[in-house]
Amino acid sequence: MLKTKIAVFVSGGGTNLQALLDAEKSGILQSGEISLVLSSNHKAYALTRAAENGVPSVVVERKKFSSQEEYEAQVKKIMEEHGIELIVLAGFMSILSEGFTSAYPKRIINIHPSLIPSFCGKGYYGLKVHEAALDYGVKVTGATVHFVNEIPDGGEILMQKAVEVKEGDTAEILQRRVMEEAEWILLPKAAEQVAKSLQKGQ
Ligand code: GAR
Repeated sequence: MLKTKIAVFVSGGGTNLQALLDAEKSGILQSGEISLVLSSNHKAYALTRAAENGVPSVVVERKKFSSQEEYEAQVKKIMEEHGIELIVLAGFMSILSEGFTSAYPKRIINIHPSLIPSFCGKGYYGLKVHEAALDYGVKVTGATVHFVNEIPDGGEILMQKAVEVKEGDTAEILQRRVMEEAEWILLPKAAEQVAKSLQKGQ
């Protein structure tokens, strides 16, 4: 079987990208290969992680384009050039419109750092999600991997894992626990599941 070609979209530190790269090395991710890293930010440390692992990367910054359509057309062109079959959003902070997501039905997955439908949708990203969970006072939070469609964080849920909120947590402490106990485990597993389902015969 041929491996499913995966592009990982990033914007920042790239710890989830690292989890995917490690999973490919250890064989947890075996039905797909990380063929490309696309960053929305030229300063993202994730780009260093890609380079260190010999994965080609490309930077596509929204502000360099005069419209969302032109930006997405460029991203699509790059996906086609690299023969990408599955897109994994791993801390990708740029918005993708229906024009883009509808071209990849059930071929884009995203990791979100809460138990959807809590603390998700527009404005909920990164540390803000954990701040909102702490403000609300939930005792359990977690992470969700879902398919991406035109509704922000609204696509079909693939996997979820719960994580305990502890007394005295700050948003940073909680973010780290959610990453360690949920995100870095869940995302490679989900990527493998979807990559496997998309695999083509020789
Ligand atoms: C992760 O916690 C990810 O779940 C979150 O951003 C962080 C990126 O960290 N994504 C979102 O909030 C998307 N709505 P990383 O760059 O170290 O993987």
